[in-house]
Amino acid sequence: MVARSIKDGISWVGAIDWDRRLFDALVPTPKGTTYNSYLVQGSNKTALIDTVDEMGEAELITNLMTETVDTIDYIVVSHAEQDHSGCLPLMMELYPGAKVLATPKAKELVVEFFGIDEERVQVVEDGEEVDLGGKTLRFIHAPWVHWPDTMFTHVPEDRIIFTTDFLGSHLAASDLYINDPERLYESAKRYYAEIMMPFAGSIPAYLDKIESLDVEIIAPSHGPLYNNPDLIVGYYRQWATGEPKNTAVIAYVSMHGSTKKMVDILSNALMAEGVDIERFDLSVSDTGLLAMSLVEAKTIIIATPTVLFGAHPLAVYGAYLAAAIKPKAKYATVIGSFGWGGKTVKQISDMIAPLKCEIIDPVYIKGHPTEKDFTALKQLAKTIATKHAE
Ligand code: FEO
Repeated sequence: MVARSIKDGISWVGAIDWDRRLFDALVPTPKGTTYNSYLVQGSNKTALIDTVDEMGEAELITNLMTETVDTIDYIVVSHAEQDHSGCLPLMMELYPGAKVLATPKAKELVVEFFGIDEERVQVVEDGEEVDLGGKTLRFIHAPWVHWPDTMFTHVPEDRIIFTTDFLGSHLAASDLYINDPERLYESAKRYYAEIMMPFAGSIPAYLDKIESLDVEIIAPSHGPLYNNPDLIVGYYRQWATGEPKNTAVIAYVSMHGSTKKMVDILSNALMAEGVDIERFDLSVSDTGLLAMSLVEAKTIIIATPTVLFGAHPLAVYGAYLAAAIKPKAKYATVIGSFGWGGKTVKQISDMIAPLKCEIIDPVYIKGHPTEKDFTALKQLAKTIATKHAE
């Protein structure tokens, strides 16, 4: 990829990671990702907004050469995480006159992570401006989307805002902008679910702030840019603040078929009651798809057998992830089968307690399910449907 012009004096100079399939050894990225770095050239000074992951070092350097950049005066660190600051030490070596501009927390982190000389890091306050000559960098502190160190950079003359991870997507694409809502939706929602949903409480105020600036372009640090800001802002409002839908997500694992049989019975009963379901076999599922389904689900059902004295490890993983990403579900329950005992229901219920869902009475049975268990599962489906209708 070569550098691409966004506005007169503003270019994309980042890297595309077509082949990345896992982020943080945790988050699936089936469509790769990009590390967006932006060059802003005023009449007097030049700034680089973020660097890239170390894998994109050669691409970043090539892009800067394409733009014939002799000097960089400022390197804006919007966020210290390695996928954006991995090439910061190299850039500081290549441009020895460059100063880093960062929030106080980002300063602390780049010093700790990369051994950056503190003398070369200039802290910028919320609302502070740096004049490049005909282009102003106006900084907006934006903690907790998704780290405490983050900030946005607004260039009012060009009606563009650089939002770091916020509003991004893990989508390696040749498009500079996303113009196809269908193509955008899945990648952006997956990204929201995995990265931003735990911070949903902070999101509306940031959306308000961005809308108040009347920008023309939103430039995040992953995925394509948006030249129709209303699209992604609208999606985020729906995901962060919209009412959950009439959907139950069933995350299950079964060893010898008893729990799966219960999942089948419950699935059919929920559908008969008019509740939409999404099912994920935790032994084979993409956890990103599970996270996406949780964005708007009203009920979470964890289905697991008992292994030794507790839940199956995959169910523990599923419950842990659900609790960590903090969906807005209102109800949860546990179903499954055990052989000789254990504390599975309590274990899973305790794990998802931080979600503050109402825990509906579980159906947890001994051995293979029989007619009376089917009846209990059908009653559970009725209870869920009734609660969804309230
Ligand atoms: Fe894309 Fe939080 O780094």
